[in-house]
Amino acid sequence: AKPNLAPTPPMGWNSWNTFHCDINENLIKQTADAMVSSGMAAAGYKYVNIDDCWMARQRDGAGRLQPDPVRFPGGIKAIADYVHARGLKLGIYSSAGSHTCQGLPASLYHETTDAQTWASWGVDLLKYDNCGQQDGIPAQTRYKRMADALQASGRDILYSICEWGQNQPWLWAAETGGHMWRTTGDIENNWSSVVGLLDQQVGLEQYSGPNAWNDPDMLEVGNSGLTYGESRAHMSLWAILNAPLIAGNDLRSMPASTRDLLTDPDVLAVNQDWAGRQGAKLRDDGDLEVWSKKLSDGSAAVVLFNRGSSPATIGTTAAALGLPAASAYAVKDLWSNTTKASTGAVRAQVPSHDAVMFRVTPGASAELAPMVLVEATPEKP
Ligand code: GLA
Repeated sequence: AKPNLAPTPPMGWNSWNTFHCDINENLIKQTADAMVSSGMAAAGYKYVNIDDCWMARQRDGAGRLQPDPVRFPGGIKAIADYVHARGLKLGIYSSAGSHTCQGLPASLYHETTDAQTWASWGVDLLKYDNCGQQDGIPAQTRYKRMADALQASGRDILYSICEWGQNQPWLWAAETGGHMWRTTGDIENNWSSVVGLLDQQVGLEQYSGPNAWNDPDMLEVGNSGLTYGESRAHMSLWAILNAPLIAGNDLRSMPASTRDLLTDPDVLAVNQDWAGRQGAKLRDDGDLEVWSKKLSDGSAAVVLFNRGSSPATIGTTAAALGLPAASAYAVKDLWSNTTKASTGAVRAQVPSHDAVMFRVTPGASAELAPMVLVEATPEKP
């Protein structure tokens, strides 16, 4: 049976978005160190994932994948040991085809051998891509073969299905053994990519749950193609979508402002709270959107999202969020950490390409200042 490795959305880091094939063992070790020293590990980030390009061009004499001798001369087992010694977990990558997306050997017809190899190295997660398809074998069959091999390997390995949303994986990937599945093609380091992926999540909320997460792809938070406000909107939306939070920036050199976006405890708590359904779009008026999620303590999270080119006031109400009637609500701005009292209106001025994120709780203490119009959080801390 599928191991219970992702009761909440997985959190970690992956090499692809920033480094592509320019990876090596020092980068992975330094990233593990940075994950701890930055506070990301304490905030819940656990997986250090090596993406494509870790493997040598040839299998060894026994038919096993082997690490690229220049990039990973010490082998993957040594990296797994290094990562584990810091309380973290190691992820690796292959494809359900003859080759990876970068033309390196992949795992179709080698499922058992490869799963055993990774288990023997101490690997904890597999991201399984969709390049190199062969012999017309349906995706579901190819992904099931690896699920079975992982489960037979004797090691608990989280299974991340990267099928790009081509065959509606939300209908079969959970049952096939996947803990998460990509719902779309690849994210890119720019705003239109982030917004385009967001639009493809609408309607998928009914398919996600513990050990079965919709994956709108890894984060670009803190990367060069996004402004600070765009990174904040991206983080807010991925959090409310119960997306796996897999950072894709260079953790070794990130500024405190990026670290704070990735590690905000209130925002992560929204992502990690399973209350029966992932967050969903409640409303849109052109460029202005309201996304919401019920939380298990009876409160609700809301993201007020402005994809337009000028600042705008966006609002909703406690009733529209599905909250019970109350004489007052506590409205906490999760990015600025200010809490105000409201009789039911929940609104803010939101800068262009940015989001404000609130947690709205029925009942408010008398000391709270009333919310007239919550000012948007400043552009940069
Ligand atoms: C595909 C995946 C990406 C990344 C690359 C690596 O495009 O969707 O996430 O793993 O392959 O080549």
